[in-house]
Amino acid sequence: MRSLLKQGMSQLLAANVPFFTLSAELLLLHVAACDRAWLYAHPEEILSAEITNRYFSLIQRRANGEPTQHLTGKQEFWGLEFEVNPDVLIPRPETEHLIEVALDRLALRELRAGRPPCLTGNGITLVDIGTGSGCIAIALAKELPDATVYAADISAAALTVARRNAARHGFADRIRFLESNLFDAFIPVRFDLIVCNPPYVGRRAADSLAREVREHEPEVALYGGEEGYEFYAELVAQSHEFLKPDGLLVLELGHDSLPAVQPLLESRQWTNLAVTNDLAGIPRVLATERLITPQ
Ligand SMILES: C[S@@+](CC[C@H](N)C(=O)[O-])C[C@H]1O[C@@H](n2cnc3c(N)ncnc32)[C@H](O)[C@@H]1O
Repeated sequence: MRSLLKQGMSQLLAANVPFFTLSAELLLLHVAACDRAWLYAHPEEILSAEITNRYFSLIQRRANGEPTQHLTGKQEFWGLEFEVNPDVLIPRPETEHLIEVALDRLALRELRAGRPPCLTGNGITLVDIGTGSGCIAIALAKELPDATVYAADISAAALTVARRNAARHGFADRIRFLESNLFDAFIPVRFDLIVCNPPYVGRRAADSLAREVREHEPEVALYGGEEGYEFYAELVAQSHEFLKPDGLLVLELGHDSLPAVQPLLESRQWTNLAVTNDLAGIPRVLATERLITPQ
């Protein structure tokens, strides 16, 4: 196994694959159906010719640009394993900040209402717009066991994956999935919390995307318009309409979205706006509340 790992790494390095060590390791663990501890405890293990061939065929596909997660069919998010395929965006670690901010703001809302911040989600109705693999809706359903959870996507193919992920984690009965262009399918539901990681890449920046993203992830999940931030305007306008009076809106931001998105929320219809940076220091999550009595 050690020798297969080294050969895989050098093939990926020669093909300029980013994180080639991790990719080779994940592909080897995948074909050998073992975990990292086992791999490093048994470096002398000899794999069958069939498994070895499968490994090198995956290494070749990775060298040709396919994302590792499409080859293994999975990605971890919020401590859960999610099925992924080319119909859904591969969940990104920075999106976990959106879950943290949503939970913090819900707890703050409880404190302000004079209730203890212990949150089960009782009485809370939330929606994840653009659910993709379902990762945000499923993470929130896990953290808020009593909340009513909706998840929407314009892509029927993505919803099929999201439903499978919900079933895999035991949330099939907890989350209502709807095929919907933004909130079209939701009349007359009103929400305490709207979360969304929207498509926010600009089409004019497509060339700057990594090849595995540009060629293998769904366009509808990537591009928010020519500049990238166009999607937010309609999302913010409709969110105002679909939030309860003191409801929360929590949005993921693209690395350069903040200057275009913040002004949309600085009107008198919104209050308590806060921006959270990701671990790289990039403004990543914007949270705000609908004013109780718009003036
Ligand atoms: C950036 S991906 C986010 C996926 C997932 N929530 C995540 O964080 O990994 C954006 C998602 O929005 C969906 N989408 C794009 N346009 C939409 C629209 N008009 N209405 C609803 N969903 C939309 C895409 O299909 C895609 O699944």
